[in-house]
Amino acid sequence: MSEDGYFDEPVAATYDESSPEMFDPSSVEPVVEVLAELAGDGRALELGIGTGRIALPLAHRGVPVAGIDMSAAMVSRLRAKPGGEDIEVTIGDFATTTVDGSFSVAYVVFNTINNLTTQSAQVACFRNVAAHLEPGGCFVIEVGVPELRRLPPGETYHVFSGSGDAWGIDEYDVATQGLISHHLHVVDGKLERFSVPFRYVWPAELDLMAELAGMTLRERWAGWNRERFTNESRQHVSVWEKPADASP
Ligand SMILES: C[S@@+](CC[C@H](N)C(=O)[O-])C[C@H]1O[C@@H](n2cnc3c(N)ncnc32)[C@H](O)[C@@H]1O
Repeated sequence: MSEDGYFDEPVAATYDESSPEMFDPSSVEPVVEVLAELAGDGRALELGIGTGRIALPLAHRGVPVAGIDMSAAMVSRLRAKPGGEDIEVTIGDFATTTVDGSFSVAYVVFNTINNLTTQSAQVACFRNVAAHLEPGGCFVIEVGVPELRRLPPGETYHVFSGSGDAWGIDEYDVATQGLISHHLHVVDGKLERFSVPFRYVWPAELDLMAELAGMTLRERWAGWNRERFTNESRQHVSVWEKPADASP
């Protein structure tokens, strides 16, 4: 694996086209709305800022945005977009990398918390965020609810997508909460595979990580339009708050 991690040059080159629905204004605008409201007059920090899908429209709304990402290839795509040069980005691991200043909101979207593949790295990420937040500041995560109810007892693989020449298969290790997402494509008659490891994490476990970092749950929605979170929800948007009387 290169220093860019799994989002290296070939992935970065097609990232924006690979999930067009995530770039649609109907997906982006509600995210920006929630984050701008939480940012208020303060600054926002995006962990895994990528090509700027959320950071750029948020900055366009007038919120000063900074970001952390380990992939120089992804960040170079952000830089090439209008306004991309104005966003301060630090290259590094968002579980541990520090940036200057404090923030009224920090956020990690699009399941990116699961890119941290150990519990200790996810806990470190919460602690790192808490250290960057102003008192009363918020941490927001958008992530899927683990799909274990789709995995029959004794099975390891779950096919999550399939078409004539492309398949997505999740490989579970329930002992470690590990999940390898395999993407298989037929290209020029040959089967190509791209596999990425994740650590799936439960909402309650995230709440505990927040508590370890001195934060408490403020909101949990099923989506960015603040839909009610229920036992049928397949993803959640959660907001934890650093106490207003915490030392900065
Ligand atoms: C799924 S993309 C999301 C990008 C952007 N936030 C978006 O919503 O389009 C995940 C991003 O997180 C970055 N990333 C993954 N793990 C990371 C880590 N441990 N430290 C820093 N960046 C990481 C990747 O390089 C990639 O740019």
